[in-house]
Amino acid sequence: MKKAIAFISLTAAIVASSQASAVTITLACGAVGQELQLCREGAARWAKKTGNTVKIFESPNLTNDRLGLYQQQLAAKSSDIDVYQLDVVWPGLLSQHFVDLKGKVPTNEINAHFKGIIDANTVNGKLVAIPWFTDAGLLYYRTDLLKKYGFSAAPKTWTEMALMAKKIQDGEQKTNKAFAGYVWQGKNYEGLTCDAMEWLVSFGGGTIVDAKGNITINNAQAAKALDTAASWVKSISPAGVTTYDEEAARGIFQAGNAAFMRNWPYAWALGQGADSKVKGKIGVAPLPSGGSRNAATLGGWQLGVSTYSKNQAAAIDLVRYLAGPAEQKIRAIEGAYNPTLQSLYKDKDVLAKNPFFGSLYNVFTSAVARPSGPTKSKYNQVSQAFSSAVSDVLSGKSKGQAAVTKLATDIARIKGRGW
Ligand code: GLC
Repeated sequence: MKKAIAFISLTAAIVASSQASAVTITLACGAVGQELQLCREGAARWAKKTGNTVKIFESPNLTNDRLGLYQQQLAAKSSDIDVYQLDVVWPGLLSQHFVDLKGKVPTNEINAHFKGIIDANTVNGKLVAIPWFTDAGLLYYRTDLLKKYGFSAAPKTWTEMALMAKKIQDGEQKTNKAFAGYVWQGKNYEGLTCDAMEWLVSFGGGTIVDAKGNITINNAQAAKALDTAASWVKSISPAGVTTYDEEAARGIFQAGNAAFMRNWPYAWALGQGADSKVKGKIGVAPLPSGGSRNAATLGGWQLGVSTYSKNQAAAIDLVRYLAGPAEQKIRAIEGAYNPTLQSLYKDKDVLAKNPFFGSLYNVFTSAVARPSGPTKSKYNQVSQAFSSAVSDVLSGKSKGQAAVTKLATDIARIKGRGW
């Protein structure tokens, strides 16, 4: 009898100790396109491997809404979320709330990522997050319609794009009233900042604030870029484009109702999905030039561990796992989420599924950063001032030159005595 009791209590002790070491980690990841599903699957693989549990915290679609929600959690020093998915423009805003991953993640693992993205995640020497996927704006087009209307290649300039879009739209609207020439992100939010930065840079109009922190927005090329985009509204783009985010634009393109679309790489995988009306009819090209260069805004998401997390070691392990080569490869193949690991751009399976990762490699490596580095914790205010001004130009409330003149004053006020 004594023996049996001893045995039972030993088993109980083993169970108790394994329970004590297994933890539950809450991961806040995105929900645009296939993000949520792929996040869940990746987290489940880690949970299976480690015996831990992962709870997924569902975040809103829009990056601005996510930021608001995360700032509330972090300001309250809440330990509810252990791992956050962070936009590439946030490290400067949120760095104080995240664990320094330098020294906690092996250097060779850190160095496997594109250096520029690691730099974007480094604030005053602190590595705030590990890159998970990168983004760059792309021009999607309908290969079948270009052919039908006698065009042999994707447009190289915005002028060319607008002419092609108009011709295709006029033709298609004869049988489909809902057809649009060009769809993009015209809603007043961070996505519009991304689109409009591409117009600016492509016209040689700078990046709002330069790398040294000087306010450069008040210039004729920037004004011209904004006026050009405004001329698309109600001509090649529906009036409703000023309410579109990424998913709205994708919905229209994927339903077969647009000739061209500006979007991030994730739209590729869904456009090739079984339920897509444009499967097999999509081409991807660099966004057109406004006379200066082709420009794609650098986007992308990273994983950071909250300093308020009660399980930091396990949280770091989850981040390393998700940002590692095996997981980034699965995400690239299943969701066209661009790896941040250079080696995967030579991976045959990844390239077979996403040929443009290879053919447009330089678009990804030369993508232009928003001025979150120089404007530091004030980036969000600068971006909001910018997207609001752009929004006014798109809706006809102001003209390009008036908008950039006023913006320069508004941004100077935000800057105050320095960033
Ligand atoms: C994408 C980008 C992100 C950007 C956002 C804007 O998610 O990866 O960097 O801020 O779009 O909507």
